[in-house]
Amino acid sequence: MQRTVAPSMLSADFGHLDRDTRMIDRSAAEWVHIDVMDGVFVPNISFGFPVLKAIRRATAKFLDVHLMIVEPEKYVARFVEAGADLVTFHLEAAADPAECIARIRRAGAKVGLSIKPATPVEALRRWLPEVDLVLVMSVEPGFGGQSFIEGSIAKIRELRAMAREMGLGTIIEVDGGISAANARAVYDAGAEVLVAGSAVFKAADPEAEIRRILGA
Ligand code: DX5
Ligand code: ZN
Repeated sequence: MQRTVAPSMLSADFGHLDRDTRMIDRSAAEWVHIDVMDGVFVPNISFGFPVLKAIRRATAKFLDVHLMIVEPEKYVARFVEAGADLVTFHLEAAADPAECIARIRRAGAKVGLSIKPATPVEALRRWLPEVDLVLVMSVEPGFGGQSFIEGSIAKIRELRAMAREMGLGTIIEVDGGISAANARAVYDAGAEVLVAGSAVFKAADPEAEIRRILGA
């Protein structure tokens, strides 16, 4: 299975957003992960459209937007206009996931669906044929720098088996507490895309850290 790393810009230095984005652009990472938080779905607020647009100007890489917001259907099209290649919303946040999926597709982006650590994989079954990607949260959403929840490995395996059984090539992305130390176990469980925030941006050599995660 292909391996991709998506550095999370939440851990970048916002005083040097252009510099940090260009660093990722030069790196072996193929995706850039963008965490949008509204202070309601999660107890933290990050950034929105103007910051996404600035990141879009600084990289040609695949922009992976992770919405941790309530009423995602209201905003998904605007995130696509601002530069998202993929928009992921939370199953727990959407009153009408089908409408949300339709709006993302109509705007021209790929569709991702995310679940928090306490949400069972089974809740995804009905939506799996409709989405391109599932984002499994391996920490409680809201903050970077938390420890990986070990139970996530079993969820990734279960999801990979479910997708296979349904004949789907669903991309599995995992987000939270990823480092070179656990990347191999997460890829081996069936994930293809690993998000890494603090592991990348707190490293002395972020580009080398990205290569370490990819080669773990
Ligand atoms: C958490 C965000 C993550 C976060 C990951 O709510 O969704 O993308 O930035 O950060 P680390 O890799 O530090 O756990
Ligand atoms: Zn994220």
